[in-house]
Amino acid sequence: MAVELVDFRSITKAQRAAAGEILRSALAHLPSAHQGAGEAEAEVDLRWNDGDWLGSATLDGERLVGWVGAIRTYSHGWELHPLVVAPDRQRQGIGTTMIATIEARARQEGVLTMFLGTDDEHGGTTAFGYDLWADLPRYTAAIEASTRGHALTFYRRHGYQVIGLLPDVNGPGRPDILMAKRLLHL
Ligand SMILES: CC(C)(COP(=O)(O)OP(=O)(O)OC[C@H]1O[C@@H](n2cnc3c(N)ncnc32)[C@H](O)[C@@H]1OP(=O)(O)O)[C@@H](O)C(=O)NCCC(=O)NCCS
Repeated sequence: MAVELVDFRSITKAQRAAAGEILRSALAHLPSAHQGAGEAEAEVDLRWNDGDWLGSATLDGERLVGWVGAIRTYSHGWELHPLVVAPDRQRQGIGTTMIATIEARARQEGVLTMFLGTDDEHGGTTAFGYDLWADLPRYTAAIEASTRGHALTFYRRHGYQVIGLLPDVNGPGRPDILMAKRLLHL
């Protein structure tokens, strides 16, 4: 069965439920990300009902295997949120296709900058477990993925740069990593 990308708001109720389940399972390493009862479903509903959000879903036959979205935050800047692939379908190129699709859509609408936050709550990067306030510029410039792996590697591969760290926002030593990419150069 061929994998296809469809508008998120065209999916069925069952596929919408699957979108919540993928959010929960793909982000299981992030305790604060949609892990409580009903939180992932509430996040799907929030995006679905937000007129400033647009998204796409990847279907393999009837099965939803990943989804991506963006929030129209600024006149020329969108926040990529979320981007998740079902755990058993990761590293098969699905994320790459979805990020390219949302970026193409953003360029069509004249967006210059795409940005995102990718948390480190599990020691996936060298910014985990430290008092980043002690030297934020140094930690920001030197950040790398640890052997545990982190989505940071995926985003760098797709041209995103680390533009900053938000210290302790998920608890002491657990930062959010802010990344951005230039989409259009006027
Ligand atoms: C990150 C994610 C969206 C990437 O989608 P994907 O379909 O798995 O990625 P692709 O197959 O297109 O690209 C794979 C490449 O991305 C990188 N990559 C993907 N996931 C990675 C991870 N967890 N750790 C390190 N690198 C990763 C690698 O470079 C990989 O290439 P490799 O398999 O040759 O090493 C997906 O793995 C996912 O949903 N992960 C969990 C949720 C998450 O962390 N989302 C980001 C929240 S901000």
